[in-house]
Amino acid sequence: MHKDVKEIFITEDEIVAKSKELALQIDKDYEGKSVVLVGLLKGSIPFMAELAKHLQTDVTFDYMNVSSYDGTESKTLVVKQDLQEEIAGKHILIVEDILDTGKTLKNVKDMLVARHALSVKIVTLLDKEEGRVFDMKADYYGFKIPNAFVIGYGLDFNERYRQLPYIGILKEECYK
Ligand code: IMP
Repeated sequence: MHKDVKEIFITEDEIVAKSKELALQIDKDYEGKSVVLVGLLKGSIPFMAELAKHLQTDVTFDYMNVSSYDGTESKTLVVKQDLQEEIAGKHILIVEDILDTGKTLKNVKDMLVARHALSVKIVTLLDKEEGRVFDMKADYYGFKIPNAFVIGYGLDFNERYRQLPYIGILKEECYK
């Protein structure tokens, strides 16, 4: 275990097993269709890779880098890097590491719907339901977690710990 991690919350084996389960469900729901997986940078990279390994569905990858600022205003999304593909008429599955207040996903989903995607769904590895401020639900989620700050498997604290192969809790001295 990494020296800064207090506790492993979700193990790598559990994440792999859950990704397989989610992939089966997604394959069933998108049977015969092509899907653009839209990963939100940077946190979605490990989960998107794991999930995609188990998909039979015809998928392409695209990425978007957005940041949403603090506050209760919902329209404060800045697109730092946009998608490469034109998405009108395509099925979009947004892949995210964690759904917390719902602000990021709400803004991104609205934006992709406005670009005339044929459908826009969301798959998130983690769902912090207690943190929700905006009305947003994931179509698929891996794990519901309590309102704690977690790191690993793409999730960072000041850009660190994204590489950890599990979801963990940081030691207090690392963020105080
Ligand atoms: P939302 O827009 O509030 O739903 O937040 C989503 C974003 O907040 C995620 O993509 C993460 O970058 C960040 N975030 C929320 N909770 C955590 C956490 O526990 N650890 C690390 N990042 C988090």
